[in-house]
Amino acid sequence: MDDRAASTLATSTAQRRNFSRRLLAWFRRAARDLPWRQTKDLYAIWVSEIMLQQTQVATVVPYYHRFLAQFPDVHSLAQADEQQVLRLWEGLGYYRRARQLHAAAQCMAREHGGRFPTTYAAVRSLPGIGRYTAGAILSIGLDARLPILEANTVRVLSRLAGYRGDPASSAGQKHLWSLAETLLPARDCGAFNQALMELGSEVCSLRAPACDACPVAMHCRARAEQLVEKIPKPPTRTKYELVREIAVVVRRGRKVLVRQCQPGERWAGLWDFPRFAGSRDEIAPQVAALTAVDVEPGERLVTLKHGVTRFRITLECYAATCNTNPKRQRGNSKSSAAVRWVLPSQLAALPLSTTGRKLAQLV
Ligand code: ADE
Repeated sequence: MDDRAASTLATSTAQRRNFSRRLLAWFRRAARDLPWRQTKDLYAIWVSEIMLQQTQVATVVPYYHRFLAQFPDVHSLAQADEQQVLRLWEGLGYYRRARQLHAAAQCMAREHGGRFPTTYAAVRSLPGIGRYTAGAILSIGLDARLPILEANTVRVLSRLAGYRGDPASSAGQKHLWSLAETLLPARDCGAFNQALMELGSEVCSLRAPACDACPVAMHCRARAEQLVEKIPKPPTRTKYELVREIAVVVRRGRKVLVRQCQPGERWAGLWDFPRFAGSRDEIAPQVAALTAVDVEPGERLVTLKHGVTRFRITLECYAATCNTNPKRQRGNSKSSAAVRWVLPSQLAALPLSTTGRKLAQLV
């Protein structure tokens, strides 16, 4: 074995220096002009990183602009109503992120004088911030020497190291976090981390990696061993769950009935038309159980299809009319605080699920 074959990125400082120099030079040349790359404001970087979890860059950009226009700093977000935050998040999905963002801003207002904290421990203790997000915010904003590992860098690092195991396993995670840390240069860690993500997104893609355009191809073990298509090992296939649900547009005069999803429900905090998993025969008892409103089921309005995480939802939407005198109902339901009669025009101000919004546009 010759010396060059024996030295790898994991074992050779000289190779790591060469790697980061090449990667950073490429990033300076090729980086996309993304709005969160124009700022060193930790608050703005945090918002972008939370939005970018599980969501494509192109989807995030308009949400990021709207969010920062409405909530430009920790105080404005902390003082907002959760409903306002959810309304701005509507369509991005994974609404827990929005609720935690809001809770974290309130925590910063209370405990950090409204400033985004700058130590790793303080950042990690905020709701919704894990190792990746803390490393990303502090490296990008302050050049802290902290590693990151997310979907793009998992792929890049697995290929660089020729890692053939399952990157999602605990052994895989340990191995890849350790490599991410070892590879960090002495400075420019924010640019370095972003460059690794950019490489994963724009060059080292899952299905069509452009190895010929890769600035660090000479360091890639998967390439040397012709394993680029085999690494990373594919995840075990997601088993989709088919769900049939019914949503009911209950009318009383010009108003329609909506209820707020409760903690523990899929869209906690968002509003929705009464919805349940079941059949048409169950409309009256289910709506009564959810809202304490007695209804007469009517015609079928539309069928909507929608995917959320592993669920494939078919939503049958029905019309219904309200039977009971509303005055008699007041206060006799545990869920009545979470039930409202609204004009269709008022639905625009309420945060709704994606299918809820489609239905709202129909009524
Ligand atoms: N994905 C997660 N964080 C990102 C960032 N800062 N830039 C581009 N893509 C990302």
